[in-house]
Amino acid sequence: MADKVKTIGVLTSGGDAPGMNAAIRSVVRTAIARGLKVKGIRRGYAGLLKEEIEDLNSRSVSETIQRGGTILYTARCEEFRYLEGQQKGADICRKHGIDGIVVIGGDGSFNGACKLANLGINTIGLPGTIDLDIACTDYTIGFDTAVNTAMQAIDKIRDTSTSHERCSIIEVMGRSAGYIALWCGVANGAENILLPERYTGNEQELIDQIVEGRKRGKKHHLIINAEGVGHSTSMARRIEVATGIETRATILGYMQRGGSPTAIDRYYASIMGAKAVDLLCEGKSNRVVGYRGGEFVDFDINEALTMKKDIPPYEYEVAKILAK
Ligand code: ADP
Ligand code: F6P
Repeated sequence: MADKVKTIGVLTSGGDAPGMNAAIRSVVRTAIARGLKVKGIRRGYAGLLKEEIEDLNSRSVSETIQRGGTILYTARCEEFRYLEGQQKGADICRKHGIDGIVVIGGDGSFNGACKLANLGINTIGLPGTIDLDIACTDYTIGFDTAVNTAMQAIDKIRDTSTSHERCSIIEVMGRSAGYIALWCGVANGAENILLPERYTGNEQELIDQIVEGRKRGKKHHLIINAEGVGHSTSMARRIEVATGIETRATILGYMQRGGSPTAIDRYYASIMGAKAVDLLCEGKSNRVVGYRGGEFVDFDINEALTMKKDIPPYEYEVAKILAK
């Protein structure tokens, strides 16, 4: 078992997500309550390699729980993918007395955390991504806020779509996962939900459904298209030509990553931040915190990275029935 830690570093890496600040705040305040020192590492692994490191105290994280984004900034770092960069990172941690790190990010960031753990720096990962694409957990920090943000935007598009009796394709984020699209599809009452995990590319079927819907008296046709399927603009052009129904594409984009976190994201991120510190205090390393079956749990990072998850089949079936 790894030695217990005295000074914890915390960083955010990969895409930002609402609730990351709540996690940072919780790491800082829990660590201080446990008698540890805390250092904030700015700009993820890139900042670590540039020694962008500052002492944090309880006041450093005042007025942050309600803020979107990450007060530590975030970045992607090519150099850290290679052993030389990882060794440099571990050496910098040692130089600054950092013997434990909490990494808030997605699978890529956990890969980096795992490499640091192998080099003797105790690491704990927290799942921070709007995409919900981390297999070991039913919850990721930021997903709930992103879905609510997208849902509210789509409600607005629905108003104008109905008024003009149009077909609207709305593209939501998620990288290669369709969770945001699935949730918005159900929550917004969309007529079609295109998920990278399920969509066969059969556009004729989609066109037939739009025409049938119009015959059944539908005033609009909302298609929630996941980023992993993409091509919303060209799809809209083809649908308009094939159906004669005016069709518009909207790509929601980065607005989905911003904004004040929901209560769920503030609460879960806070509990997860505390758990990360407690795991380090127990001498644990190379673990990732998750939420499964109503409990906060932790897994070996290597094990977590080999896990797979898929769109829940029953939920997808329900989504299709409700869209009729
Ligand atoms: P996310 O953490 O959201 O999945 P990325 O995949 O962009 O985002 O990864 C974030 C950062 O984590 C990368 O820029 C890189 O510095 C680091 N990283 C990703 N994969 C690895 C890897 N295999 N080994 C070491 N570091 C990695
Ligand atoms: O992982 C979060 C996310 O917003 C994805 O949904 C999206 O594919 C990606 O990040 C965009 O990344 P970038 O900020 O590098 O454009």
